[in-house]
Amino acid sequence: MDQELFSAVDEFVEETLVPHDEALQGALDAAAAAGLPPIQVSPPQGKLLQMLARLQGARTMLEFGTLGGYSTILLARALADGGRLVTLEANAEYAEVARGSIERAGLADVVDLRVGPALETLPVLEDEGAGPFDLVFIDADKVNTPNYFAWALDHSRSGSLIVADNVVRGGSLAESASDDPATQAQRRLHETLADEPRVTATTIQTVGSKGYDGFAIALVL
Ligand code: SAH
Ligand code: DHB
Ligand code: MG
Repeated sequence: MDQELFSAVDEFVEETLVPHDEALQGALDAAAAAGLPPIQVSPPQGKLLQMLARLQGARTMLEFGTLGGYSTILLARALADGGRLVTLEANAEYAEVARGSIERAGLADVVDLRVGPALETLPVLEDEGAGPFDLVFIDADKVNTPNYFAWALDHSRSGSLIVADNVVRGGSLAESASDDPATQAQRRLHETLADEPRVTATTIQTVGSKGYDGFAIALVL
């Protein structure tokens, strides 16, 4: 592992391909000032997410794990006209920071931020008849990724895309005997992806400023 090199390349990619953006920088600054952990997607990863959302022409999006709203702002900007994004955050303090940044980004009317553990919010969304979602980004508590994926799949349509962050976990994904519950959850996710006839999926490993990790991407058939 050459973390310095990975970070240098991410910086180069950011400088060349990810233009400076006031609202996104503002969200990062507000999150840092409030002491939120700096675990948002990297700028190049965020841009990939945004491009996927645009490719989808997504009108409805669901995000698990708002943190300071960095990925939320990226995704919400990719919404098709009249679109809406629902984002779920368990930590009320993080959610308040995100709310401010989302508002300053001019996205308050298209982003629906729900505070509470996602597994408690999902039945509320269910009662409201939410979905189907064109794009789902799963990036909250990693042990629940398989549960979030199952709900997302049941609230998707043919052509929906479901992306899960942090599935590779420094390569521990390949360790069948791993005693890390978050890793075992990603292994279960992959078993589901393999057995589930409603999706076709792959996982892409990533290196960069966030180390060695990766995304699982599932297309609903
Ligand atoms: N998507 C963000 C990063 C999210 S970090 C970005 O890239 O900008 C993971 C977030 O999930 C944290 O803010 C954490 O508080 C939140 N989280 C943890 N457990 C959760 C739960 N059960 N329900 C909803 N959010 C949760
Ligand atoms: C953590 C969460 C993330 O979503 C991430 O991308 C990196 C780290 C964490 O909880 O430590
Ligand atoms: Mg993540």
